[in-house]
Amino acid sequence: MFNIFKKKPQSDAKLFYHTDMHCHILPGVDHGSQSVEESLDMLRAEIDMGITHVICTSHVTAETFENTPETLTAAYEELKKAVEEEGLPVKIYASAEYRIDEYWTKEYEAGHLLPMPGKHILLENSFVQELIGIDNMMFELQVKGYRPILAHPERYRYYYDRKDRYKALHSASVKFQVNILSLAGYFGNSARDISLWLIQNNLCDMLGSDMHNMDHAHVIREYIASKDWRKLCEKYNLPGRIINDREFAL
Ligand SMILES: [Fe+2]
Repeated sequence: MFNIFKKKPQSDAKLFYHTDMHCHILPGVDHGSQSVEESLDMLRAEIDMGITHVICTSHVTAETFENTPETLTAAYEELKKAVEEEGLPVKIYASAEYRIDEYWTKEYEAGHLLPMPGKHILLENSFVQELIGIDNMMFELQVKGYRPILAHPERYRYYYDRKDRYKALHSASVKFQVNILSLAGYFGNSARDISLWLIQNNLCDMLGSDMHNMDHAHVIREYIASKDWRKLCEKYNLPGRIINDREFAL
């Protein structure tokens, strides 16, 4: 019998790249996954979308999530063991999404960081205002051999009418990572429009899920099955331009 309450099956659409470089899948270290079981579900969703390598970038922020390389590595080891026990076809890596704040400054100055493979560092701006001295900091990081990536530039409202700042940061070799959730409209029309503007202006180097939970996974899976996503990929040749799989040499 036809059952109108039957749950709509999730699409089996795949992403064109295989490395997710921004997500909150490590268990119990931020407001992403809260348990190993939840992390495994999120990894299964990643695998279903064609992801084979996941760089886990848990929050590191003053007061709220004062993680250290040690706390993150402990969560990573726990999850890695569970991934092996379950036989999931995915490789995971431990890193962080560093909010540029006083805790970051302290950890950075102490050399107490957990970079991504290839010495990339995923940095999150304040959501309230641009940090004074951000250009110098990005320059100094590169002098020290780090490769800064700005997480979701489309989510910082103070740049919306100062697009010259996007161009200045990007031309200073800061890579930009846009959230697929933003493209899907999850953070509202402005964030979606700015994401599209960044793509149109060649200012989007990488895409990330920024997945914190299974709701995010469902939104992404639905979006990548949409015509909007397919058209966007074709129109701007995203498979040729997005460097997720090239940049980390995994
Ligand atoms: Fe994030």
